Amino acid sequence: MPAISFQSVSKAYPAARGPKGATFLALDDVSFNIEEGEFFGLLGPNGAGKTTLISILAGLTRASQGRVTVLGHDVQADYAQARRLLGVVPQELVFDPFFNVREALRIQSGYFGVKNNDAWIDELLESLGLADKANANMRQLSGGMKRRVLVAQALVHKPPVIVLDEPTAGVDVELRQTLWQFIARLNREGHTVLLTTHYLEEAEALCGRIAMLKTGKVVALERTSELLKAASSHVLRLKIDGELPADLAAQARVTGRIVQFPAHDAREIEGYLAAVREAGVVVDDVEISKADLEDVFLDVMSSTNASAGSETAEGA
Ligand SMILES: Nc1ncnc2c1ncn2[C@@H]1O[C@H](COP(=O)(O)OP(=O)(O)O)[C@@H](O)[C@H]1O
Ligand SMILES: [Mg+2]
Repeated sequence: MPAISFQSVSKAYPAARGPKGATFLALDDVSFNIEEGEFFGLLGPNGAGKTTLISILAGLTRASQGRVTVLGHDVQADYAQARRLLGVVPQELVFDPFFNVREALRIQSGYFGVKNNDAWIDELLESLGLADKANANMRQLSGGMKRRVLVAQALVHKPPVIVLDEPTAGVDVELRQTLWQFIARLNREGHTVLLTTHYLEEAEALCGRIAMLKTGKVVALERTSELLKAASSHVLRLKIDGELPADLAAQARVTGRIVQFPAHDAREIEGYLAAVREAGVVVDDVEISKADLEDVFLDVMSSTNASAGSETAEGA
């Protein structure tokens, strides 16, 4: 049974512009499963629909169409059970200013009906670097510390499925490392993790599988390693003096004097260098780097721009 199952999920919001009653689709027929024990990444630019999808999963927003289950429990029909299985760290910093950190965690425990939870609460405080803030009032905490409390709150009932919506956006390096160490440990211990992030290197380092979302549609869904393999593995970057012949320029990304060729292997790199030399173009600087998820992301995002409705026509 999948940990999370999105089945043809669509979400229409009232359109900001246009005639009264007009809607736009923030999510358009999104379907994929996340298996138990996975560390899964949901990537996409701002406005892609990541938070909307997570709000539907958490039962905070209703899907216009489709169905979502958590370990087999429908998030609408079986809300309480589904919610108990989830630990959701929201993108927005929301907190209750009246309590101190330990009180906030005890209240959250009570909300989930977990009693005598102090040992786990202590472990959370320790693992998230909050131990010396246990008695501090929530409103005295810095943004980064509040973020840690949000994570602790989401995990207070030891949920089997952990969901983090851009938990490290605008957060210091130290917290990122603390957080990832802890979440990776929970994942090794069997917890399923769904993470949305802007930091592609984070997704590359942590996620076994990745879905890419663009304007509400899934445009890629693959193992991280396959996604990286599918893209050209290297980038040859030249600084040139002169102009490339049109056939060469067509194969490159040209920004003024900087020219970048995507290449799969050393042979291809040699080929480009030879062609440039033959064309009589002077090379002032050479750099070869490995493609990373960022390159793949740009690749996928730009190649799906023009292809809507024309995928089958291409290459025919
Ligand atoms: N409550 C809402 N009402 C109307 N439009 C919304 C609402 N929430 C989000 N949107 C719109 O839906 C789209 C997806 O937003 P969101 O899910 O927040 O994307 P992401 O988290 O990927 O940045 C955006 O165009 C956003 O403006
Ligand atoms: Mg968001």
